[in-house]
Amino acid sequence: MLKLIYTSLLTLLTPALANPIQSRQSASWPDPIPLSGNNTYIHDPSLIRRADGTWFRFSTLGNIAIASAPSLTGPWTYLGAMLPQGATMINIHPQQELWAPDVFGVDGTYFAYYSVSRSGFQNSSIGVATSTTLEPGSWTDHGSIQIPHSSAYNIIDGNLFRECATCEPVFNFGSAWNDVYQTSLTSDFLSWSSTDGPRQLLFNSTFPPGQDFRAIVEGSFLFWWPSAADSSVKYYYLFFSSGQCCDFPSHRPEAGDEYKIMVCRATAAAGPFVDQEGRSCLTESGGTLVLGSHGGNVYAPGGQGVVVDPDDNKIALYYHYVDEDAGEEYADYQFGINYLDFAMGWPVVVE
Ligand SMILES: *[C@@H]1O[C@H](CO)[C@@H](O)[C@H](O)[C@H]1NC(C)=O
Ligand SMILES: *[C@@H]1O[C@H](CO)[C@@H](O)[C@H](O)[C@H]1NC(C)=O
Ligand SMILES: *[C@@H]1O[C@H](CO)[C@@H](O)[C@H](O)[C@H]1NC(C)=O
Repeated sequence: MLKLIYTSLLTLLTPALANPIQSRQSASWPDPIPLSGNNTYIHDPSLIRRADGTWFRFSTLGNIAIASAPSLTGPWTYLGAMLPQGATMINIHPQQELWAPDVFGVDGTYFAYYSVSRSGFQNSSIGVATSTTLEPGSWTDHGSIQIPHSSAYNIIDGNLFRECATCEPVFNFGSAWNDVYQTSLTSDFLSWSSTDGPRQLLFNSTFPPGQDFRAIVEGSFLFWWPSAADSSVKYYYLFFSSGQCCDFPSHRPEAGDEYKIMVCRATAAAGPFVDQEGRSCLTESGGTLVLGSHGGNVYAPGGQGVVVDPDDNKIALYYHYVDEDAGEEYADYQFGINYLDFAMGWPVVVE
């Protein structure tokens, strides 16, 4: 999630484009499923289920807010901050913020990758903290994973993907500038390996109407699922968020250029990724829409992840969105879940 200051663009907007009613799209997707408990002030959620069955949700701001719930649908209870003192081992700016956590577990240890940045900054960093319980108070901060800074990319929105215990993990990151990159980490998952990339994975070269910078592509999340047509084929789905994430009170983009969840597919975790029309997601600005604004009040869904719920074997797509009834200030953003079906070879929101 890259927050930007859009005020300089306000003069380019006509009043019609700033009208929220006009930026809503037709209702072709189901509403988010009903959730209970505290589901507000959520940006860029990351979900993980502990061995005892308790779900944990990590999210942007509040020095990485942690909440837990007995089931995916809640009730969600806010527990506290992951790093109450902030990212003390990374200093990029006195007003730096912690964004976009990504949590995974291996052999009883949980790794949480967090972004350290601030609005419009390119010299961000990704750090990592570890815990054996996921609870606030249990986290050991290890500081930056040492991906080298470059004018090509912005080091935020990390996503570690590990298909199996013996599979080579990959690490995706990136936002704006040249969008999404992939690299790898050392075998202890604590630092950059320096052996693989960073290689560019996704790039959207399009300038949205009235905007003097390219469409933002960020928040990537890799997930694999076997092909329904041929079970010997595995597909790697790179979900990502495209468009303007926030600042809607001050700037409304044209309908469709607000945040939305898209996907590209490959037959290897390293790509190359294409969209449903076969366009390259690296050289042809490809990407297939999974979930956009819809209905009366769901606006700008993004910051997503995908998880299989072992309780019912459903594949949950979770994300944040603006509920037009709740408000579009930063603290108003809501946590949302829908379920995906992959039978056609591409994820479809079915429930
Ligand atoms: C709800 O959760 C958010 C973080 O996600 C937190 O900032 C807020 O304090 C929580 N509210 C309550 C009443 O616990
Ligand atoms: C990050 O960039 C800003 C300007 O955009 C600069 O003032 C600051 O010193 C940079 N920080 C580091 C750690 O390079
Ligand atoms: C690329 O940007 C254009 C302009 O905002 C947008 O319409 C399109 O959906 C974007 N595609 C991807 C894959 O991000």
